[in-house]
This record gives sequence, structure tokens and C-alpha cells, in this order.
Amino acid sequence: MDTFDINYNTSKNYWSNTPASLDGMLGGFAKLTIPDIKESNVFLKNLFKMKNGPSNLRALDCGAGIGRISKQLLTKHFTYVDLLEQDKKFVEKAQIILQGTNVVNFYCASLQDFSPNNNIKYDVIWIQWVLGYITNEDLIKFLKKCCMLLNKNGVIVIKENISSSEEGDVDAIDSSVTRSIDSFCNIYQEANLKCITRKTQQNFPKGMYKVETFALQPIIK
Ligand SMILES: C[S@@+](CC[C@H](N)C(=O)[O-])C[C@H]1O[C@@H](n2cnc3c(N)ncnc32)[C@H](O)[C@@H]1O
Repeated sequence: MDTFDINYNTSKNYWSNTPASLDGMLGGFAKLTIPDIKESNVFLKNLFKMKNGPSNLRALDCGAGIGRISKQLLTKHFTYVDLLEQDKKFVEKAQIILQGTNVVNFYCASLQDFSPNNNIKYDVIWIQWVLGYITNEDLIKFLKKCCMLLNKNGVIVIKENISSSEEGDVDAIDSSVTRSIDSFCNIYQEANLKCITRKTQQNFPKGMYKVETFALQPIIK
């Protein structure tokens, strides 16, 4: 299924040389955080209002970096938040930034190697601006793992850049891919997920990738 190469060492090195700051997280576009969080906030509130929508006990922030989304969004909506990030320096920064908040567990692991070692379940698993760094095969496995971690009515939220080219755009510098909508939809199908709602980000500067937020739930057979 993969038509591109992703090298995990290259992306790991790229991120280990990136500053633990908002600009570092957002490729020099720290200012995107305001419209990003504003629309995610509305998206999440609408999810809570949905019939069979998620509860608000516990969320997992995946590829969390320094905890930008945990700090500005998830801690405001959930009783408990856990964070998953592969870069040690980012996790350490997140621990400082999120000290005294309701973030409980800081997991330092990659998405592809993450194996939760307890029985914690999540109402929302938030995955943003990280999936370009894992292969289709590992992404499908990761999403299947996420399904096992969901509470009843739990939702996986994916917010990612979208390529207008069917085959996606590869960036050799950080070894990432920007996928097309169809590519995401095929992956969801493979992972046995259905999209219950989605929204295109508004109010980003011109010339940026389209950004789509998907809310996904396991298909119960
Ligand atoms: C563009 S930043 C986004 C951070 C955060 N999601 C946000 O929106 O502020 C990408 C993050 O994904 C992390 N990352 C990259 N590949 C990863 C992987 N395979 N598993 C877990 N985290 C990864 C990077 O270390 C970095 O913190």
C-alpha cells in the first residue's frame, strides 16, 4: 500500500534537532496555534453534543511534542489527560509546561512502538500533525491499537495536513508524507474505522496545506 519511503531514523534526528518551542512544533508558524485551537475547541464541543458522542473523562494526546494541544485544549475539557511523544527532550519540556495540571502520564515512545502497560481507556485519542511520520502499515496497526484503548462511545480525532495530489507529497528533509483525503479514507477502512464527522480548518494563512479534522469510531460488526 505504501508508495513512499519513510525513514524513522531521519525523522527522529530531525525532531531531536528541533527546538522545544511552539515555533519548533509548528515549523516556524507558532501563530497558527490560535486559529488551530479555536476550531479544535468547537470541534470537540460538538463531539460531546453528538448522540453516542464521547464522555469527557480521559484523553490521550499522540505525537504531543511539548504538549501544546494538551495545555491549550485537552486539559480544559477532560478530567485526565495522558501524553505520548517519542522525543525525550519534548517530553521533558511538556512535563515542565504541564506541571500542576491534570496531565497524568507522560509516555516517551513512538506511535509505532507504543504499548500501553495498564488498563487505562480513553474517551478521545487526539492525533495531530504526526501521522506523516509513520508508514501506512504502522498507521493501520496503531489505529487498531487505539480502537482497543477506547471507552464506549470513544472517538479517535485525527487532524492532519492534506495533499491535493493523490500519491501524496514526500518531504525528504524530515522524512514525512502528506497524504491525500483518499489515502486517509483507505487507511480508516483498513483499520475498521468509520468517520462520524469531519471539518476543514478555516482561517489559516493562504498558501498552507488544507487541514482536515476527522472524528472516527470503530465499526462494530
Ligand atoms: C509537527 S510536531 C506536532 C506536535 C503536536 N502534535 C502539536 O500539534 O503541537 C510533530 C511531533 O510528532 C513527533 N513525532 C514524530 N514522529 C513520531 C512518531 N513516530 N511517534 C511519536 N511521535 C512522533 C515529533 O517528535 C513532534 O513532537
